[in-house]
Amino acid sequence: MDMLGDLEKILYHESTIMARLDELAAQITHDYRGLDLTLVAVLNGSLPFMADLIRRIPLPLKLDCLSVSSYYGSTRTTGNVRFDQDRLPDVDGRHTLIVDDILDSGITLAAIRRKIQEEAKPASLKSCVLLSKRRERAKEVEADYVGFEIADEFVVGYGLDYDEKYRNLSLIGVLNPEIYANQ
Ligand code: IMP
Ligand code: MG
Repeated sequence: MDMLGDLEKILYHESTIMARLDELAAQITHDYRGLDLTLVAVLNGSLPFMADLIRRIPLPLKLDCLSVSSYYGSTRTTGNVRFDQDRLPDVDGRHTLIVDDILDSGITLAAIRRKIQEEAKPASLKSCVLLSKRRERAKEVEADYVGFEIADEFVVGYGLDYDEKYRNLSLIGVLNPEIYANQ
């Protein structure tokens, strides 16, 4: 399978992503210095992003994960978010930063924020996404830290998948629509 050949165009090469992560991490380090910080990775898409991000944040921090399934009709969420585990990460009293791959409709991030606020008592709750699509959101939610703002196109790579594929690309690109046109 030729993963690169399935891309319509490349948006961000690995070096561009890493340079932006340096900036994001510096901002987070500045904002959370002296605070009890917990980063919560939204699995699976945020894994590469989280791994590269935390190694740039020289603060004592905790790392936790959260697994959600959003139901996808090909390339758009259908609006249902299911939490895959019974227990949320224990973030009581902690300054909590949700880390996700991409903000699209906003449904996933809004559901996670609501769930944490209902079931835990974080000292604060913010979110960080690598990508944010420029579009109208189904839920009024914005991220506090954004790596890149992108157009409303379906992208893959660096954690982002189509049908669970392409997560292991080290760059981010727009998937050729022919790949999902007949789905
Ligand atoms: P939202 O709930 O619509 O904001 O979607 C968030 C989730 O949908 C992300 O965590 C991704 O898993 C997935 N998603 C949204 N847009 C894309 C994309 O362009 N490529 C790959 N996954 C996407
Ligand atoms: Mg996904």
